[in-house]
Amino acid sequence: MAKHDIAYLPGDGVGVEVLEAVRWCLDALDFSANYNEGDIGWKYWCTEGNALPDRTLKLLKDTECALFGAITSKPKQEADAELDLKLKGKGFSYFSPIVRLRQELNLHTNMRPCKAYPGNLLNYKEGINVVIFRENTEGLYAGIEFHPVPGNVFDALCTHPKAKKFERFGLENLAMSTRLMSRQGCASIVRQAFLFAKKHSRKSVTICDKPNVLRETGGLMIRTAREIHEKEFNDIPMFETNIDAQCMWLVKNPFDYDCIVAENMFGDILSDLSAQLVGGLGFASAGNIGDDYAVFEPTHGSAPKYTGMYKVNPIAAILAASLMLDWLGETEMADRLEKAVAAVIKESKVRTYDMSGTNTTIEMAKAIAAKCKE
Ligand SMILES: NC(=O)c1ccc[n+]([C@@H]2O[C@H](COP(=O)([O-])OP(=O)(O)OC[C@H]3O[C@@H](n4cnc5c(N)ncnc54)[C@H](O)[C@@H]3O)[C@@H](O)[C@H]2O)c1
Repeated sequence: MAKHDIAYLPGDGVGVEVLEAVRWCLDALDFSANYNEGDIGWKYWCTEGNALPDRTLKLLKDTECALFGAITSKPKQEADAELDLKLKGKGFSYFSPIVRLRQELNLHTNMRPCKAYPGNLLNYKEGINVVIFRENTEGLYAGIEFHPVPGNVFDALCTHPKAKKFERFGLENLAMSTRLMSRQGCASIVRQAFLFAKKHSRKSVTICDKPNVLRETGGLMIRTAREIHEKEFNDIPMFETNIDAQCMWLVKNPFDYDCIVAENMFGDILSDLSAQLVGGLGFASAGNIGDDYAVFEPTHGSAPKYTGMYKVNPIAAILAASLMLDWLGETEMADRLEKAVAAVIKESKVRTYDMSGTNTTIEMAKAIAAKCKE
């Protein structure tokens, strides 16, 4: 009997190809698992009006964690246009399945390691090793948005003196996205970062927001972080930065940073910036982690222009699998897989197009799988 039950969610486009690559590596490690394939992605939006069907959510609940490839998503007008004729006009509206996964399963922590593996010619500088902790369920990406802004919402806003001046535009011309954050949400992401720093002997935790402008939400994040730092982790240095300056400093002095905590949207921006410092989307993996479930993914999308070509780099997805193994407590396998990735990068014999090579997705996977067996 297999030891683990994994939900296998390839999704759209190159998501299918990179998860196939992951299987080569997990099989080489003799990882014992049932892979339960679930439906997710654009096809299910078009045919069922739901990119994350209920049967997939049910399947997830019967597994320990999920491996996710990538999905395609499109702006509102295109999404509406591609919806099956028989579903049109029935009140279906597109919502990103990955955002829904994070919210429905309360996967509050998005952990994105960005490590410059020695010898990767795409490294901005050798030695970069940053982990971004992005709050995953609240803030600007929580999806609490209005257009037009309903009268009762606007009336409530007008209890704030700065809202009144928008009245002259007319409610139908106003769009609004909210940045709602909770003390609990801030505490959770800050604590996850400190716990990680403690476990892995990392040198510091930096809290990044914009409390001088976003005084209430940014202020809540900073005050909560200070409290947790003082009471629970005062042996680990904590720094505070503003998001704009942090972007500049990450490029200027990347070695000054270790674990960085940020709200949902700021964390999204910081993770893409950090990913590019260590080779780009072909190397960027993430764990969406909750209290008792987690979804592991490469951070790239479905890359339509390469779909079906087996050309993209599977290393991001393979590193996501290493994060999954670690989370499952299979630490020896997680370590072996990461070392195999590092060895193939260092040797530089097998390289996908983004590494200026001509090898395919599966050739890269096989090279890493072979190292896993050494
Ligand atoms: N988590 C997700 O599933 C996710 C994330 C981002 C975008 N998307 C969706 O994916 C679709 C395409 O979006 P996009 O083109 O902006 O982003 P993308 O990440 O799919 O690809 C952008 C470009 O990055 C490069 N790239 C991506 N993955 C790579 C890899 N593994 N190896 C080498 N190069 C790689 C390619 O040049 C590609 O054309 C859209 O529908 C978008 O909404 C999904």
